[in-house]
Amino acid sequence: MVHVCFVCLGNICRSPTAEGIMAHLVRAEGLASAIGVASAGTAGYHVGEPPDARAQSVARSRGVHLPSRAAQFSVGDFRRFDYVLAMDRDNRADLLRLAPSAEEKARVHLLRSFDPTAPPHAEVPDPYYGGPDGFVAVFDICEAACRGLLQHIRREHGL
Ligand code: 4NP
Repeated sequence: MVHVCFVCLGNICRSPTAEGIMAHLVRAEGLASAIGVASAGTAGYHVGEPPDARAQSVARSRGVHLPSRAAQFSVGDFRRFDYVLAMDRDNRADLLRLAPSAEEKARVHLLRSFDPTAPPHAEVPDPYYGGPDGFVAVFDICEAACRGLLQHIRREHGL
């Protein structure tokens, strides 16, 4: 089984959205027993909380359920996940600092690097302090990137 973890700062806006979208795409392609999907935050401010109501509202309107509860990414998680997808460059820097070896560092990628239409080093912008439009943009950005990520994983793992 291939294990994927999406990582943002708080684990209540961007990474739960990406997790919900990826789980939805994986189920739609009949791969739920081959690809496991999770999310976490680099910070622990919101541990145990459900996703932000604004993220849930956009996802619901697109037919995607966001069932996660916030958790903080820990060093041991590098053993559990084959792909660790950072939403922005700060998240990536924090993950690379935490990664104990080159093997773990190599599992860390910017999520949007899997979207062939995104420019190099593109980020998923943090919507937390902005208005509802930011959450719509995050959903669309995550959907495009998750489609590319799923294609990549299928190719890499012969799924
Ligand atoms: P996320 O958004 O990293 O996409 O979950 C944020 C959530 C909470 C905070 C910042 C960003 N915060 O500062 O509490």
